[in-house]
Amino acid sequence: TPGPPTTVVLFGATGDLSRRKLLPGLLHLLRSGLLPHVQIVGTSLDEHTRDSFVDFVKEALDEFGDDVTDEQWDDFSKRLWWAPGGTPESLRRAVDEAEAECTEPQQRLHYLSVPPKAALAVLETLREADLVERARIIMEKPFGTDLESAKRLNAAVHEVFDEDQVFRIDHFLGKEAALNILAFRFANGLFEPIWHRNMIDHIQIDVPEQLGLEQRAQFYEATGAYRDMVVTHLFQILAFTAMEAPTALDPLSITEEKNKVFRSMLPIEPRDVVRGQYAGYLDEPGVSPESETETFIALKCFVDNWRWAGVPFYLRTGKKLGQGQRIISVAFKEPPKSMFPAGSGIGQHGPDHLTFDLADKSRMSLSFYGKRPGPGFRLEKLSMQFSVDDTDWAGSLLEAYERLILEAVKGNHTLFTTSQGVERLWEVSQPLLDNPPPVRPYAVGSWGPNQIHQLIAPRAWRLPFER
Ligand code: BG6
Repeated sequence: TPGPPTTVVLFGATGDLSRRKLLPGLLHLLRSGLLPHVQIVGTSLDEHTRDSFVDFVKEALDEFGDDVTDEQWDDFSKRLWWAPGGTPESLRRAVDEAEAECTEPQQRLHYLSVPPKAALAVLETLREADLVERARIIMEKPFGTDLESAKRLNAAVHEVFDEDQVFRIDHFLGKEAALNILAFRFANGLFEPIWHRNMIDHIQIDVPEQLGLEQRAQFYEATGAYRDMVVTHLFQILAFTAMEAPTALDPLSITEEKNKVFRSMLPIEPRDVVRGQYAGYLDEPGVSPESETETFIALKCFVDNWRWAGVPFYLRTGKKLGQGQRIISVAFKEPPKSMFPAGSGIGQHGPDHLTFDLADKSRMSLSFYGKRPGPGFRLEKLSMQFSVDDTDWAGSLLEAYERLILEAVKGNHTLFTTSQGVERLWEVSQPLLDNPPPVRPYAVGSWGPNQIHQLIAPRAWRLPFER
């Protein structure tokens, strides 16, 4: 069902996220009839007028959005407004102007696409502008930079907004493929009985990126790969992979189970972490020549409960690596005894695996050993797979931000993170934040510093795929 009439106030409207995802996403929601009565007020520290903001949006859509007809663009552009400088007065004025165009009362959605440091000032501005009533607020990750700052930010948010107005976004939770983990695990009777330490050897959550800083040096320098990706996206995905069966698909049940996973996690030990920095990072514009910010991180962590005690979860992500991938790979234990002789191919390609590919077009595959046709007994790794590409559903895909904006507009918290969960994850991270291991260099196009192999030995990273 479509969302109610909404004015989206976009803080950081000229930033990278807005250009790549939010503006194209809002246009798609409008066009697909999911958010038919939307007005968009943009603001940022960049200098713009309404007209120049409209031009900016057009360029962003040309680069990152779907093709639109003149008529569709005309309709969208009339819904765009600009609040210069993001002051309380300019915001109020722009929101009033936008809403004067509407026949029904608009609900407001404030999207804070700003770094953690800037969030406090925006909250204050919203209060001064008297834009708290009838409003929901989406706050971007990372939520704070450590436990103390997250607590301060939560307290500051609650001075202005009630918790049910607050949506802490982690866009990995909006990915079609992430939701498929829930469907796969909890809509089938086949897999859940083997989903535990007796059958599973280890799990990898591997998100290498080919992208670099993408004009975000200032944000990235203050954030680094751990805060940008691990404490946020990768741990949220870990929770979907590791949690117990929720009793319902509702915010309370899902968050309760996720938070139980976070509570069971052992603190991240610096000795289980490899930090890296790509060669040439220090020469990037906006980066300090002495920077120790990591652009790569790999780590081992544990969910210390009955289901997972002793099963390592290996996480890896980084910039400017060999390939862009987002996989969760579940490695099953070897059979207790093998009748197949060495040389038959048994174990040659690692253990049998289940793989979830979190790419926009979601894919799942199960690989296992089978007999190669012909004389003798040669074993080969075979696979069964599902890919959205092989269906005719691709047209109905929703991009992660689109789904989450729509859910927030409708007031549904199921796919958002909570203050409790976020604070617990900072607590788990504290030993690493207090004592980060040194950053080690790695070559652009590689898979990270050499130490990643020691981290996972005697096992091996599944990426890059051999075939
Ligand atoms: C963002 C990070 O949250 O996620 C970026 O800030 C990263 O650094 C991006 O590139 C990855 O998201 P996706 O959806 O492209 O895998």
